[in-house]
Amino acid sequence: MNILIENILTILPAKDSAGGLTAEVRSVYVKSGVIASVTEAPDGFVPDKTINGSGKLLMPGFVNAHTHATMSVLRNCADDLLFNEWLFDRIMPLEDKLTGEDNYWGTTLAIMEMLRTGTTAYLDMYYFLDDLARAVEDSGMRAVLSRGLIGGSDDPGAGEYRLREAIDAYEKWKGRDRISFMLAPHAPYTCDEGFQREVAFEAKRLNLPINTHISEGLVEIDTIRDKYGCTSIELMDRAGLLTDRTVAAHCVQVTDSDIKIMADRGVTVATNPVSNLKLANGVAPILKMMNAGVRIALGTDGAASNNTLNMFREMTVLSIIHKGINHDAFGVTAEKALTIATKNGALAIGRSDMGEIKPGNVADLVILTLDSPNMQPLNNPISALVYSANGSEVETVMVDGRILMENREFLTIDSDRVYHEVSKICDRIGTRS
Ligand code: NI
Repeated sequence: MNILIENILTILPAKDSAGGLTAEVRSVYVKSGVIASVTEAPDGFVPDKTINGSGKLLMPGFVNAHTHATMSVLRNCADDLLFNEWLFDRIMPLEDKLTGEDNYWGTTLAIMEMLRTGTTAYLDMYYFLDDLARAVEDSGMRAVLSRGLIGGSDDPGAGEYRLREAIDAYEKWKGRDRISFMLAPHAPYTCDEGFQREVAFEAKRLNLPINTHISEGLVEIDTIRDKYGCTSIELMDRAGLLTDRTVAAHCVQVTDSDIKIMADRGVTVATNPVSNLKLANGVAPILKMMNAGVRIALGTDGAASNNTLNMFREMTVLSIIHKGINHDAFGVTAEKALTIATKNGALAIGRSDMGEIKPGNVADLVILTLDSPNMQPLNNPISALVYSANGSEVETVMVDGRILMENREFLTIDSDRVYHEVSKICDRIGTRS
């Protein structure tokens, strides 16, 4: 399908090579899922659909670099708790009751929220990968899926069984453009060193990237120090899990030498400022990481610890928290925050053809209306996106050149059915207070 988005204020990579952004009125031509031109019509281009861009803004879709989509069914049911109580006492017992079908509906609900707030791709860690993949396939969303792996010598065979499930799902669904896979050792405190090495071995054998949680809370640091005499980063590095295709969520409690290891290995850190603040884990030292050359991407984490998947709010918090605690107004500027939430997320999931509006990139695009009081006067469009927008401005979203939401209507998802199914799940597993 050929789509023309005509005369729209467009967020573009700046012409300089410094990685900046600019906003200019352009016409954007989408052909067979790819951005064909941002200037003139390509030869012979006949649009099947034309969108009038007047009064609107076009941006690349966000890449949510760390989430657990299904956990949307656990929204607002485990709040105001410290991390270990939240995870072990409240969340894990509820997760034990979730079926594959529950995962399908929970993930579909998450995809609705992501589309509604401008996210076009996400990196997920959960289980029942077949059901997660079905939800992604049916909705038209783009996702990287990874089965959370827990294992070690205290539960022989369990880790290997989960690893087999992860590999089976990868073998079944591989080769699709919108769905890809990583291997996901859950965390250093849920995977012992031997199991971490097994996962690293399989990742290398299958040429799969790694998705993991590292150094999220203080308890983890003490646990790993007591057991191994090192930091979480040092442990996972010696197990062979840290490479330039590793996405490490959180990295809140890290030392200077941890940061050097991450920079040397080329690890991407998926920072989750709202979840880290809400679970009282702290603030990741991302300015130090960026100065050391570590790539930073942005994630919301699951809706059970955020409690939204809204990347606009995440960008705002990302920018202002690091200004505040570092007394540094330039640490995460609006331009940096937007780049972290789009292009850096795309690079984190191995896509150099995503996250920027330029010819040759996939057409994962978001149209916002500027016709709302918080977006007027617009003045600086990049500032407006990071500091003023809240996601309600998102009007139309396409993934791979296919429109999934138009004028806030979902075209591939029956939202009433999703709300109904999710409500039944909540009744059954007991999330209501
Ligand atoms: Ni997480």
